[in-house]
Amino acid sequence: MTQAHTTTASAPVTVLGLGDMGRSLARAFVAAGHPTTVWNRSPGKGEDVVALGAVRAASAEEAVRASGLVVCLVDYDASDAVLEPLAGALEGRVLVNLTSDTPARSRQAAAWAAKHSLAYLAGAIMVPVDVVGSADALVFHSGDRAAFAAHEDTLKALGEPATYLGEDHGLAAAYDMAMLDFFYGAMGGLVHAFALARAEGIDGASLAPYLHTIAGILPPIAELTAADVDTRTYAGDGGNLAMMAAGVDHILHTAKGHRLDVSQLAGLKSVTDRAIAEGHGTSSWSSIIEVIAADR
Ligand SMILES: NC(=O)c1ccc[n+]([C@@H]2O[C@H](COP(=O)([O-])OP(=O)(O)OC[C@H]3O[C@@H](n4cnc5c(N)ncnc54)[C@H](OP(=O)(O)O)[C@@H]3O)[C@@H](O)[C@H]2O)c1
Repeated sequence: MTQAHTTTASAPVTVLGLGDMGRSLARAFVAAGHPTTVWNRSPGKGEDVVALGAVRAASAEEAVRASGLVVCLVDYDASDAVLEPLAGALEGRVLVNLTSDTPARSRQAAAWAAKHSLAYLAGAIMVPVDVVGSADALVFHSGDRAAFAAHEDTLKALGEPATYLGEDHGLAAAYDMAMLDFFYGAMGGLVHAFALARAEGIDGASLAPYLHTIAGILPPIAELTAADVDTRTYAGDGGNLAMMAAGVDHILHTAKGHRLDVSQLAGLKSVTDRAIAEGHGTSSWSSIIEVIAADR
């Protein structure tokens, strides 16, 4: 399916779903000058975006028919329920599903769209609602290349550049899952750190300013880890796994001493123990991928 290149800020857009993120997307489209039609299953949501100039449609079908670009923002169960009856109304339009779910669900939805000859992009929003539409917003897209090219300028209203990852519809979700794997692992550690600090009599406000140091060393570590895991070479220069695993052990003992829940740390210790048992004690921390990955 080919689409005319949509270059003007006046390209109409539809947003289905006015939860926290849907309203944020609608605000960003309105702010960028796009006539924006909105719809939400339950009445009463989205008065704020209507007040800013978005037009509320009476039904999902009316909303879909209002624009060439339909952005959907519910979970996949919901988007299937809402969109499947609207395959006819979606014909000739580009559907961008920004729901966060698994790569498999994205590919299933793409197969449904292909069956109905619909142009389909699967996306993922990687930033909180207040960052959408700003220069710091990261929004992934994958799937129909021509559809992305046709609507890239409009999608930039959500975050510039709009990031296109490739034709496999599962790619946006795959990047999303990998990034959220990092995020939630870190978020679990963050809250555990506050629990450990509290058990030691340190309040959150006293610890928080120093955590910037840990956050700040992560970007270069991510680059080094990427090089290690891509080449499957794990030179432990400057910090080896055995030394770092001892650090995990010290945290675990301290936490156990305060009777904290240690399930996350215990899982990590199990991984480091097995990597060391497999001979990676002098390797870098990244070598634990050799016991985590299924393809080893
Ligand atoms: N919020 C964030 O910071 C954030 C950040 C990144 C990505 N995301 C992603 O954005 C998506 C939406 O998040 P959100 O924060 O907007 O969630 P939310 O506030 O919980 O909103 C959920 C939306 O889904 C609709 N919905 C749920 N079930 C439905 C169904 N069966 N039929 C029709 N509509 C249905 C809800 O409509 P009703 O009002 O009728 O219930 C509502 O519009 C998620 O995939 C989330 O992972 C969110």
